[in-house]
Parts: sequence; structure tokens; C-alpha cells
Amino acid sequence: MNSVAIMINSRAVTASVEPRTSLADFLRDERDLTGTHLGCEHGVCGACTVLLDGVPARSCITFAVTCDGAEITTIEGLDDDEISIELRAAFTREHALQCGYCTPGMLVSARDLVKRLPDADEQAIRVGMSGNLCRCTGYVGIVNAVKSVIAARRGRDIAAEPDAGRKLLGPVGSGHAASAGSANPADAIAAPSAAVIAPLLIPDFTPSTILEQSFTVAHPPAKVFAMFGDIAAVASCLPGASLTGTPAPERVEGAIRVRVGPISANFNGAARVESDAATRSGRIIGVGSDQRSRSQTQGEIRYRLLPVEQGAATRVDLSIGYSLTGMLAQVGRSGLVRDLATRLIAEFAGNLDRLLSGDSRAIAPAAELNGISLIFGLLRQRAVGFVRRLSGRDGSAS
Ligand code: FES
Ligand code: FES
Repeated sequence: MNSVAIMINSRAVTASVEPRTSLADFLRDERDLTGTHLGCEHGVCGACTVLLDGVPARSCITFAVTCDGAEITTIEGLDDDEISIELRAAFTREHALQCGYCTPGMLVSARDLVKRLPDADEQAIRVGMSGNLCRCTGYVGIVNAVKSVIAARRGRDIAAEPDAGRKLLGPVGSGHAASAGSANPADAIAAPSAAVIAPLLIPDFTPSTILEQSFTVAHPPAKVFAMFGDIAAVASCLPGASLTGTPAPERVEGAIRVRVGPISANFNGAARVESDAATRSGRIIGVGSDQRSRSQTQGEIRYRLLPVEQGAATRVDLSIGYSLTGMLAQVGRSGLVRDLATRLIAEFAGNLDRLLSGDSRAIAPAAELNGISLIFGLLRQRAVGFVRRLSGRDGSAS
């Protein structure tokens, strides 16, 4: 546990927090400030936006411990704020909300725009609000509301503040924290990791999470097994994967790039490959790290090929085990990682099938695995759940 002193809505708060506790969880669970909503919990939807030292920040991907010494303002703290009062009236007038799930984050971001933008430029408002997603209202009313407040304030000769309190570029939240080890959060991000990207010998390990998946390809097992022996071909089927050296079974060096909204990780590492022709099975054991997020992963893929449809097709049984440590492990919920893995395997299976059929589209896979549609689906589910709770169809509290 770490002790933090944070000013929350102009009240001094001291508390003990786990290093892994997000600011959003701390505000909601420890301070009962449930106006800060959680949608994606991956920094994509903006529902959790609060002001951190006067600047909008996503509290779901900000650790509470990095806010030691900082000043936090949640939607509750903006009750008497002049701009927020004007925005709330404008949102009501312009029908800028339905379920209201996104609205706290929208208002916090909109307030920042009202302060900063010199005039009511619709394009600039749309760009400025693009980090806040709404799943039910649409954006016309929201943009009109923000536009009308900016126009009214500039009409009253209230000038824009171009930086609106920003002192530096980069992630907010750790500027005050002694525990962050640097006065400048950008330094912490840029600092090279001491971890070696991949050891010379790739060790066995016990995965903390194991996922079982199967898929079928319309090609006989012998052909599929031969393809699994071609490491470059297999890598070309994996979205976001690339080889960085000449592959050999005992060591394959490569990288995989994963993006979930603004969170982007580039895992560099190495793997060793084992296969058994008698049982048409094998395994790939790898280690990798993403220096930017200082996250490390170990992974093991076991596969077994089984004939189906009288040998005309192959069922590929996969067992995927992994352990993830570092910042991404704190941000990623296991359910989301599971869903991302499912998507990854589905895309891999499709690419493999096309490659086996001689379709070269699989040779140029997506530059990265992008989880954005997954996040949209999750956010949609949570907005529906929120509406159900509001309408009393579900007995649980917000
Ligand atoms: Fe934080 Fe979606 S919940 S950005
Ligand atoms: Fe935006 Fe419902 S009003 S998600």
C-alpha cells in the first residue's frame, strides 16, 4: 500500500492505495464519487474523464498512486462551475444526451474546449471531443451544445485560454508523485527499460492464464502441418506480427504490435519452436517486452492438428498460455485479454485458410491487432446495462 495526499474537489484527502488501483476505482469505490463512469476501462471511451491538475485525464488508466500531490476535479466538483452550468443547460436544450452514461466525461472534456478554443469552430469541436464516445445520442446535439456555449462566451468577450492550464505535453498524473521517480512524466515513459528484451535461452514457464481455442481450416492435416513448419508464413498470418531476424526453430526473433484505442504496445522478443510430425502437434514458447509501457510477457502456444471431414479438413486445437506483468497487466482486465485473444485467433485462422488456398492477401496482414471494435462492443453492453439499472429492470446499484 502507498500513502497518497490528493486534493479531490477542493478537499484534502489522504489515503492508502494499492499501486494497481486506478484513479477511477479509487474515486468510485473509496470516495463514493460515482459520477465518474467506467465504460471501456482501456482509455478509449472517455466516460471516466476527470480534471487532473486542471487538465482532462482518463481516470481508468491513471493510477491513483501517481496522483499524489495532484488536484482532481470530478463531475461532482463542477456543480458550481460557471462553464459547467452553461454546458449542462446547453446539453439539455440541444438534446445532447439520452442515457447519460457518457455525459460526465463529455462535460469535463467540453469544459476544456470551451476554455481553450478561440471560436465555435465545429470541426475543432469534433476533433476535440473525439476522445469521448457516445453510444446512444449521436454527436450533433453534443457538438451544437458545445458550439453554443463557446459562441455565447466569446460574444460576452470572455477570451479563450490557449493552454487552459497545461504546463507540459504528455501523460498527466505523475507530475507530483515522488513514487513516480521523476518530476516529468515524459521522462518516466522515455526511460529505457533495464530488462533484456529476450534472453538467449528461452525458458519454460508456468502460464498464469490459459485459453483453449479451436478452429477448422478446409485443408488436409499434412498440408496444414507443413504450413506450421514455415515460421515466416505463420507470422504473416498473425495480425501485427513481424519477424526481425532469420527464423530458426531454436530461435525466432520478432515483434507483435497491439493497439487498443490510445494504448499501443510493441512487444519485441524471441521464441523457440518445437514440433512432432508423428502426432502433428507442436508448441511455441516466447518471451517479449514492450519498453514504452514497461510490460513483459511470456507465452506458450500448444497446437494439435486433427483430421475432420474424412481428412479433407483440419481442426486446429490451440492452448494458449501467457503471463503478463507491468503496466499493461494493470490496465488489461482478463476478460478483455481473452476477447482480444479470440479475435486474434479468428483473424489468424482466416489468414491461414486464405494462405493455404493460395490467396496472397494473407501475406500482408494488418499492421497491428486493433481492439477498437471490441471496445465499442463492450461500451455498448455497459451503456445498455446502465440504462437497465436506471429504469429499474436490474436491482443492482450504480
Ligand atoms: Fe476510461 Fe473508457 S472508461 S476511457
Ligand atoms: Fe451518450 Fe447514452 S447519452 S452513451
